[in-house]
Amino acid sequence: MFLRNVWYVAGFSNDLQPGQHIGRKFLNESIVLFRGASGKVGALEDRCCHRAMPLSEGHVDNDILRCCYHGLEFDASGACTKVPGQDRVPSGAIIRSYPLVERDAVMWIWMGDPAKADEAKIPAHPYHVDPKWGWKSAHFDVNGNWELLVENLMDLSHLGYVHARTIGGNANMHFRTKTEAKRIDNKVTVTRHMPNSVAPPTYVDAAGFKGPIDRWQEIEFEPMVIRIHTGACDAGTGAYEGKREHGFSMMGFHGITPETDTTTHYFWSIATNVGLDRGVPEVVFEQTAFTFKEDQVVLEAQQKRINETPNGKFVNIASDAGSNLTKRLLKSLHEEETSDTVAAA
Ligand code: FES
Ligand SMILES: [Fe+2]
Repeated sequence: MFLRNVWYVAGFSNDLQPGQHIGRKFLNESIVLFRGASGKVGALEDRCCHRAMPLSEGHVDNDILRCCYHGLEFDASGACTKVPGQDRVPSGAIIRSYPLVERDAVMWIWMGDPAKADEAKIPAHPYHVDPKWGWKSAHFDVNGNWELLVENLMDLSHLGYVHARTIGGNANMHFRTKTEAKRIDNKVTVTRHMPNSVAPPTYVDAAGFKGPIDRWQEIEFEPMVIRIHTGACDAGTGAYEGKREHGFSMMGFHGITPETDTTTHYFWSIATNVGLDRGVPEVVFEQTAFTFKEDQVVLEAQQKRINETPNGKFVNIASDAGSNLTKRLLKSLHEEETSDTVAAA
């Protein structure tokens, strides 16, 4: 199941310098992303309309993408602008282009009906462009279905098991923590507060906590990203009344873009508000990358078993509340899309 009428992360802006292009598959469709000399980005079907050569094997020249086989040239709208050796461009020489918008240092692609691509609905992530925050990004290719990744991020009760060596802390503490999951319109939020808890190693390294901390994890799903705000203040200093500037915050951005039914592009970044001048964002990034690799191992192991047992059953437990709300939201959005398509037909 894929949702089509949502903005997906196609990559980070710094994945593409002027004159560069990349081939990526989204929702089983092969796409080439390119940035022309003027800085403008485009997303085209990765198939030349002459003889099906992948355009991702071609070259960017000024603001066009040239096929490497017989040299047809295409602009960002998908129109063929030149056929070498002839004056006339055949009228059908056009390939599909996809709406692609850059915002907050992220490239957002629309895989659905172009008439519905409303830029006002692009999820905002201002931490990428706010000088008070330092951040770094990565792209993992996960051999697992995208919904497994959504589930993983919406339910952090796995921290004490999967991430015991980094952000984990105590597994029992995670299960005992009261979790509040809510759906508001097309968003799902999961909030967990852990007052007076022991600071995990990552937090001590980054912010130098010496005693107990008031810790929070606030997760927000909005198709198709998840933001995870985690952090802590010294216990009893106002974290839960919104006074957090003196504490340590990490703002995680998780773009989840299906590649195929069983593989996923995981585009993530982590932004930090402390120690920008002493390399804290870099250290946090390295530790986070290590942590997410631990998740990747889990997702890929799950996918292997799911492939072997496609009709196997799943049992729910209390900590699934947030991920189950999210899955219900995804299902209803999918039903809406399907009924719109049927109505249009
Ligand atoms: S296949 Fe692209 S120009 Fe011939
Ligand atoms: Fe995890």
